[in-house]
Amino acid sequence: MLSLIYSAALNGIDANIVEVETYISSGMPVFSIVGLPDVAVKESRDRVIAAIKNSKFEFPSKKITVNLAPADIKKEGGIFDLPIALCILSAVGKIKKENLKKFCAIGELSLEGKIRKVKGVLPISLALPKNNIKDFIVPFENRQEASVAGTVNVFPFEILSEIVKFINGEMVVGPYKYNENEIFNNSSNNEYDFSDVKGQKSAIRAAEIAASGGHNLLMSGPPGSGKTMIAKRIASILPPMTFDESIETTKIWSVVGNNFCEGLIKNRMFRSPHHTASSIALAGGGAYPKPGEVSLAHNGVLFLDEFAEFRRDSLEILRQPLEDKKITISRAKESFTFPASFMLVAAMNPCPCGNLGHREKDCICTPTQINKYKNKISGPLMDRIDIHVEVLALKLSELTDLETISEGSASIRERVVRARQLQTDRFYKSKIHANAQMQSKEIKRYCVLDKDAYAILKMAIEKLMLSARSYDKIVKVARTIADLDGMQNIGSSHIAEAVKYRFSDRNF
Ligand SMILES: Nc1ncnc2c1ncn2[C@@H]1O[C@H](COP(=O)(O)OP(=O)(O)OP(=O)(O)O)[C@@H](O)[C@H]1O
Ligand SMILES: [Mg+2]
Ligand SMILES: [Zn+2]
Repeated sequence: MLSLIYSAALNGIDANIVEVETYISSGMPVFSIVGLPDVAVKESRDRVIAAIKNSKFEFPSKKITVNLAPADIKKEGGIFDLPIALCILSAVGKIKKENLKKFCAIGELSLEGKIRKVKGVLPISLALPKNNIKDFIVPFENRQEASVAGTVNVFPFEILSEIVKFINGEMVVGPYKYNENEIFNNSSNNEYDFSDVKGQKSAIRAAEIAASGGHNLLMSGPPGSGKTMIAKRIASILPPMTFDESIETTKIWSVVGNNFCEGLIKNRMFRSPHHTASSIALAGGGAYPKPGEVSLAHNGVLFLDEFAEFRRDSLEILRQPLEDKKITISRAKESFTFPASFMLVAAMNPCPCGNLGHREKDCICTPTQINKYKNKISGPLMDRIDIHVEVLALKLSELTDLETISEGSASIRERVVRARQLQTDRFYKSKIHANAQMQSKEIKRYCVLDKDAYAILKMAIEKLMLSARSYDKIVKVARTIADLDGMQNIGSSHIAEAVKYRFSDRNF
């Protein structure tokens, strides 16, 4: 007796359809699973036996062969428990075979026959229509994630015995329809607010520009000046994600299997790995490669505090994603590519003692020490950061000023959202979303400088001896500043402000 059902295996952040076939014949009672299964799949044998028996079905005392095809794709986890159990029950006549083969089923079984949630459900539901599979049986807890993309009919279940009745047509269950309010993960980003930050107007302005145009930002300044405080508040002013961006981000989180991922992720991610993080933690990796911090921050912010303390090899990993917006992890036989388009926010001290350029304190570092410290961050990496801003130590009077109330995140965000909308309209037909992503073609087309602006830019480049690379960055940042101003053309004040954010080009 032969029976078949579909299931799926993850491959990076995508899914491959797997056929689960079961053949039962008379002979010595053995239960084998073939098709390159890893340890977890072998363990699934014990769970399947217990779950079938505890769901009040008889487990056949015959020769059972389960084949997971194609054999050459890697399979991991308990995701195949449910399809294997259903397939066995069908092979012994408990489930109608012709009904079974139109479904894709995923889920880990508990010993008592309950269905446990699994990872990577969104990528699977996106892969099903391409394989002409319309009906998807999922663990109850995965129902929202399975249905967000609207690609398949989702049938969520909590126990094995109900699925048997459902497939046999003895129990009617309508496809799960999500509720938009429920499905959007509404966790608020407003844990921190810019109204808590005293002074530091120019750094906050730089954060606003960075968030508006998706520019990478480096804050440099003495200890205690508020760099970490400002960076943490950037999440509160980021523009909302588009539906497509939400799907991309949720897919990555779905594969990692974080609980967080119950619906669609709506807010941009803010990731802040510690400076001791390994290069694998940043880039992603493992036997079955999983996304790392650069991908978890996809469409959001990657905040690297104490930037100069990160290991050099860890920092060098950032070069590919900063350039290509994706990261490739190579394995002996194949390589995996994960999306990694993030806004980099970095914070560091200007020198080892932290007081270089301080208004009142003296720097005690030698020039060699200062150089060594700055050289920890390579030129090519520095080059990929559009906005450099100095965060000076607060004056005592600013810190103790109880009168002045700083602008809150909500009104800053309104300006950011408006500026981002202009960019969405501008790049409507292209693949990019924000000014920071412009290449020379777009720069030429969208960054028209008026005469005065051009004169200022020329003067700045000559006087400050800025490189040709700096030119593009200044123009892109000026484009964002003009967007914040609601101006079509880039004027002299926009260029003048953008030039300010290249201070370290002179220092380096
Ligand atoms: N501008 C500010 N407004 C209000 N409080 C501030 C400000 N700057 C610093 N503080 C206070 O000082 C603390 C330390 O600030 P923060 O950690 O942001 O400094 P930092 O610049 O990141 O220093 P380090 O270089 O040591 O990392 C904050 O938690 C806050 O209480
Ligand atoms: Mg800090
Ligand atoms: Zn110093």
